[in-house]
Amino acid sequence: MKLVLLGYMASGKSTVGRLLARHLDVKFIDLDEYIEAHQKKSIKNIFSEHGEIFFRKLEHQLLSEVLDKDESIILSTGGGTPCYGNNMETILNKSDHSIYLNLGIPNLVERIVKGKDKRPLVKNIEDAELPEFVGKHLFERRPYYAKAKHILDCNGDDPDTTVNKIRSLL
Ligand code: S3P
Repeated sequence: MKLVLLGYMASGKSTVGRLLARHLDVKFIDLDEYIEAHQKKSIKNIFSEHGEIFFRKLEHQLLSEVLDKDESIILSTGGGTPCYGNNMETILNKSDHSIYLNLGIPNLVERIVKGKDKRPLVKNIEDAELPEFVGKHLFERRPYYAKAKHILDCNGDDPDTTVNKIRSLL
């Protein structure tokens, strides 16, 4: 069984994925952590030392590598993963379940403000500018997320609530 979690930055993919994997007793992989282990560098340093294109190529290559593994996994992707190249097709073709954790702009902004430093795409954006940035970015990205097999409204959820909603979908 392969289950992929998608969604914008800070939508809770990693927290929910880790918790869900524990409930289902399945291996959990966080694509960002997998990339960091492959490069022996943080996402922040990969972006600053090699640039975004390098990161996107690696993300593309390692997404397939993870989904080709012959074992059950829950995979949490990066916020941009489904939106580049044919990554969304790869996710749809190689997973049994793809789930978009859908959160509104105010919720996303509130969460992003807290973890801005480790996210290269938003680290230089003033807090006051974040709602506009996230709004535009989400407008571009939502069509990719919306191809997921399931779209889950997670506004106001704590991680346990989201996990229970996912379990009732499976
Ligand atoms: C990115 C999201 C990040 C990480 C990288 C790029 C994006 O992951 O992959 O900084 O393009 O939205 P999270 O969604 O876990 O923040």
